[in-house]
Amino acid sequence: MIIAFSGQKGGVGKSTLSIATAQELKRRGRDVVILDTDSQSTALIWSKGAEEGVPTVPVFVVNDELVKGARAAAEKYDIVIIDVPGRLDSVQKRAMLAANLAIFPLGPSDAELWAVQTNIQLVKEARDFNENLDSVYLLNRMRKSSAETVEIRKLLEKNGQKTFESTIGDRVDFKRFLAYGAGIHEYAPTGKSSMEIKRFVTELERYLALGVE
Ligand SMILES: Nc1ncnc2c1ncn2[C@@H]1O[C@H](COP(=O)(O)OP(=O)(O)OP(=O)(O)O)[C@@H](O)[C@H]1O
Ligand SMILES: [Mg+2]
Repeated sequence: MIIAFSGQKGGVGKSTLSIATAQELKRRGRDVVILDTDSQSTALIWSKGAEEGVPTVPVFVVNDELVKGARAAAEKYDIVIIDVPGRLDSVQKRAMLAANLAIFPLGPSDAELWAVQTNIQLVKEARDFNENLDSVYLLNRMRKSSAETVEIRKLLEKNGQKTFESTIGDRVDFKRFLAYGAGIHEYAPTGKSSMEIKRFVTELERYLALGVE
């Protein structure tokens, strides 16, 4: 299973959410790896700062031959998570060719909403080569039942797009846990931030129909 945290817009939470998700899957005993394709190397830097004794997700940097690299990783690991850079470049396109599922984090700003049409186009083009590519939006930096969230869900639905039920709030923990070198659970075990990630990962596991380990 190859999951790409994707989207053309920069700074929507691809790296943050891919790392938090991967680490939560790992904590649940899943066999998971992160492929860092971003020149900012967020995931790689995070993994280097890992605390001793905390089982962290392995991170590999893949620059060239992403499709081949992702497929090879999927032979070795059950779940491959690709952190995609926020530009509509060849990496973004190649991630769409390799992935089974594209997760598009989406925040409340207008610029992020404008990027939805570009994401739709990206998936459409990729499906020419990767016909089973699935895509789902994940609302980030939003309150679960605010009027804005309801409106954005409606807008996505109107555009034929699926959205996870779980939402991720705008929380300072998400800015801090990376430097801590572990997952959001280790950083804030009882925090709302880790509860949100746990809820999301449970939903993701169900969505992917992953068996109980
Ligand atoms: N739910 C959240 N709450 C608070 N801050 C957040 C949240 N999600 C992301 N951020 C912050 O927003 C910034 C951008 O996030 P991140 O680097 O994950 O985005 P990105 O999509 O990977 O960006 P790029 O396109 O540059 O790779 C970071 O400072 C991160 O800490
Ligand atoms: Mg990033």
